[in-house]
Amino acid sequence: MKKPVIAIDGFSSTGKSSISKMIAKKLALIHLDTGALYRGVTWFALQNCLNGDGSINTDQLFSSFDQIELEFKNDDGELVLFLNHIDISKAIRTNEVSDNVSFIAKQKEVRDFLLESQRSLAEKGGIIMDGRDIGTVVLPNADYKFFLTASIDERTKRRYMELLSLGIEANEQKVKENLMIRDKIDSEREIAPLKQAEDAIVIDNTNIDKQETIERILSYIKDF
Ligand code: DC
Repeated sequence: MKKPVIAIDGFSSTGKSSISKMIAKKLALIHLDTGALYRGVTWFALQNCLNGDGSINTDQLFSSFDQIELEFKNDDGELVLFLNHIDISKAIRTNEVSDNVSFIAKQKEVRDFLLESQRSLAEKGGIIMDGRDIGTVVLPNADYKFFLTASIDERTKRRYMELLSLGIEANEQKVKENLMIRDKIDSEREIAPLKQAEDAIVIDNTNIDKQETIERILSYIKDF
């Protein structure tokens, strides 16, 4: 039986990645957190492509793509992101990366750089990919498309708890501001903005937990 290709898009901190990870486990699919790729490129830029004033030099970044090797490695069922053989899975969650990632993700060169590798991973099927433009741009022919949303206050609470659990210092108001700024940049950018695909199923999980969100998604997935 052919395994499905599932696209999960939506706002930051709606639980896209952890929900996708659990669905992947249940249906024996590969899970790709595409936000991690944008975060990985941002981390590289912050390490290697800064102007004297601390801002990111995008030209330098674009001419360094051939020095960026992003790779997910399977660590006991968990995909861990490596950049040039360094485990950056924790480094990409820091506030510094979160504050800069939407700026990096709106650059056409960066999106083009990451597009083909995302598509080629889905060629064989059996994948669940989460991000912002999976159902609209990366995999417009996905078998199933979902769009997750939740209120800003609920998302702030979730992100704040996630940072604390990672041992990253956080301030709830700052977390909220970062989410609002990212929502705005992600939704208003010219290329591949965050938006619901016309044929996506919308799930608002403000008042339901991860398990219930997963059950709702699974209730749509048939015949695989
Ligand atoms: O899901 P996340 O918060 O880790 O994503 C980080 C950023 O990457 C987010 O602000 C928007 C960008 N992104 C994107 O533009 N397209 C994707 N497919 C995934 C993420």
